[in-house]
Amino acid sequence: MSRLPWYHKTAIYQIYPRSFYDSNGDGIGDLQGIIQKLDYIKELGFETIWISPFFSSPQADFGYDISNYTDIAPVYGTMEDARQLIEQIHKRGMKIVFDMVMNHTSIEHDWFKESRSSRDNPKADWYIWRPPFGSPLIFSGNGGRRWGVPTNWQSMTGGSGWHYSKERGQYFWSTFLPFQPDLNYRNPEVKQAMFDVVRFWLGKGVDGFRLDIFNFIYKDAEFRDNPFSFKLLPTDDDPSSFFQEAKYTVSQPENFQFAKEFRSVCNEFGEKLSVGEVSGGRKIIRKFLGEETNDGLTLVFDFGMLNFIFTADYFRDLIHEMEQNYPDPFMPVYVFSNHDKHRSIHRLGDDIRKAKLLAMLQLTVRGVPCMYYGEEIGTTDSKLPFASALDPIPHKYTLLPRIGFHWLGLMVNRDEVRTPMQWDGTTNAGFSSAEKTWLPVHGTYNEINAEKEGRKEDSLLNVIRRLMKIRNEERSLREGSLEILKGLPGGILGYVRKIENKEIAILLNFDEQTKEFQMEFTECIFTLLPNDGIQNKAIHLGGFGGVIGIISK
Ligand code: GLC
Repeated sequence: MSRLPWYHKTAIYQIYPRSFYDSNGDGIGDLQGIIQKLDYIKELGFETIWISPFFSSPQADFGYDISNYTDIAPVYGTMEDARQLIEQIHKRGMKIVFDMVMNHTSIEHDWFKESRSSRDNPKADWYIWRPPFGSPLIFSGNGGRRWGVPTNWQSMTGGSGWHYSKERGQYFWSTFLPFQPDLNYRNPEVKQAMFDVVRFWLGKGVDGFRLDIFNFIYKDAEFRDNPFSFKLLPTDDDPSSFFQEAKYTVSQPENFQFAKEFRSVCNEFGEKLSVGEVSGGRKIIRKFLGEETNDGLTLVFDFGMLNFIFTADYFRDLIHEMEQNYPDPFMPVYVFSNHDKHRSIHRLGDDIRKAKLLAMLQLTVRGVPCMYYGEEIGTTDSKLPFASALDPIPHKYTLLPRIGFHWLGLMVNRDEVRTPMQWDGTTNAGFSSAEKTWLPVHGTYNEINAEKEGRKEDSLLNVIRRLMKIRNEERSLREGSLEILKGLPGGILGYVRKIENKEIAILLNFDEQTKEFQMEFTECIFTLLPNDGIQNKAIHLGGFGGVIGIISK
């Protein structure tokens, strides 16, 4: 019997529902569309499907602005479709993870409408409301912020996150965009209401949650101003930005405690997955899992790796740090793409050979891999007009030249990584029968599509299928320990996965040049390139090649 809980040995596939498959011809993906494509994911070998939000929402941030947590946005389907989706996923022995946006609701949520209506309604304290600070006439030393604004806090998207409401003559706080007001978790009723939502879905059989901007849920109880920092832009290892240290707005002590409370609610329903979208230094985000035992969230994304550099040294250091930071009973997550950032292949200069090697690392290293729809076929970022973006973020920056953002490496038009799934070479890449899809299908779809790659033996898709098959068969890959191999030639990264007496070595060549070196294998169970493997008693790896070999059975 296996010792690890399922959520520490699973593999996650992320679906952006708007873009996966459109079953009713309106140009927008939907729940029935996902159901129709479940066998594709099953054959790919992924067990867990995380679906970005499809709850009732005005869709101003495409579902990350929820107006009713216990109903489905008509554009994606109905409650009955959600029920069928859960059932169909379970029927295939797979798991379903919903996306919970607990930090904020939509401005259209009834809770907010009521809260905003007066200062003394029953939900008056459900959101974060503050009176204007100081007087507009007298200098009151308000730390450089605009007159009236309660604190100097910056939103995640830049600019003050305080927004004035005429109805109450007060400001409400939004971590993200103005139409996404933050809930007040210091009010026990709010916590209770949200935990009831969590129980509602767990009761319907959902296997866990991805937790949106989880480390922003608590803000300083005393509303102290954030200190100055020289940092202009937020990075994945440090949310401080726009010249302030996010001291009082991120990862507050109460937030770590909240992770444990959330976990206890999940535990009422058995072994449930919870993966936090958290930002900050590796040591801080680890704390959301618990200190000694894993009694907080079951997993956290560690987004620093989204900015990987494609070298053996980079990944050796990364794995080393992940092993240090997430030792048993913790488990790291390996993620290189999502719906907010450049796709991983973009960082690889769209080089499919490198994408194969990256997938090989991701699926053999000790950790839960998380892949973003389309990553398995090498979908590239689109280039879409900035001014007509559907994503609300670019519209905050209309005055700043797009080129500046590219230069700074910021992803501001997230439409570019959310284009429809490329299923085949037919109209709209087989995504939809509509005349117009919600975002244009990427122009590469004739070459890059699942159907074509399925037929090509050495395609990225088939490499991933083969790797997933091995991962699902070999316990050592899902559950074994990891030891980094030393003394390998430059450009080669190697590690051993071990469980009981079984040892498997993974060797990856990050260079374009062929490499040969000594290493004892009894058998190769996977080779990335046709000539990779054992040749004249040496390991031979072509440029960007890789092998998996058995050291002992
Ligand atoms: C998270 C989501 C992103 C969303 C934001 C606000 O970062 O991944 O897509 O816009 O939170 O909910």
